[in-house]
Amino acid sequence: MFQAIPSADALLLKWILHEMTDEDCLKILKRCREAILSKEKGGKVIIIDIVLDLQGGKPESVELQLLLDLQLMVDVNGKQRTESEWKKLFEDSGFASYKITNVLSFRSVIEVFP
Ligand SMILES: C[S@@+](CC[C@H](N)C(=O)[O-])C[C@H]1O[C@@H](n2cnc3c(N)ncnc32)[C@H](O)[C@@H]1O
Repeated sequence: MFQAIPSADALLLKWILHEMTDEDCLKILKRCREAILSKEKGGKVIIIDIVLDLQGGKPESVELQLLLDLQLMVDVNGKQRTESEWKKLFEDSGFASYKITNVLSFRSVIEVFP
């Protein structure tokens, strides 16, 4: 996934990017961008991961998200990201838009479009 990804209609990254540094996320997202179809043909990347919302999130979800943030920092050099941090990664890797849906408790589904 760091070097090449076979072409696909859609790609799913579940519980992957939060373990990675921004630099590694960009490498993977750029490979995903190259691999998927155009938006008109239905191409998208689907990410299931945490979107930190310190102001608007439910207290019990934010507490768990921050606990996981600490664990990732210690174990694998990863981090939880706010929406603006995710947005920057998507823009820097060549995606045009994204949509966040909060349907999985403390995790979100992020659809990212070319
Ligand atoms: C938290 S698990 C998520 C696994 C699965 N997607 C799921 O949701 O159950 C993260 C996965 O990323 C893999 N991984 C982490 N760093 C990797 C790397 N540099 N190259 C390949 N796989 C990696 C780990 O081996 C692990 O299987």
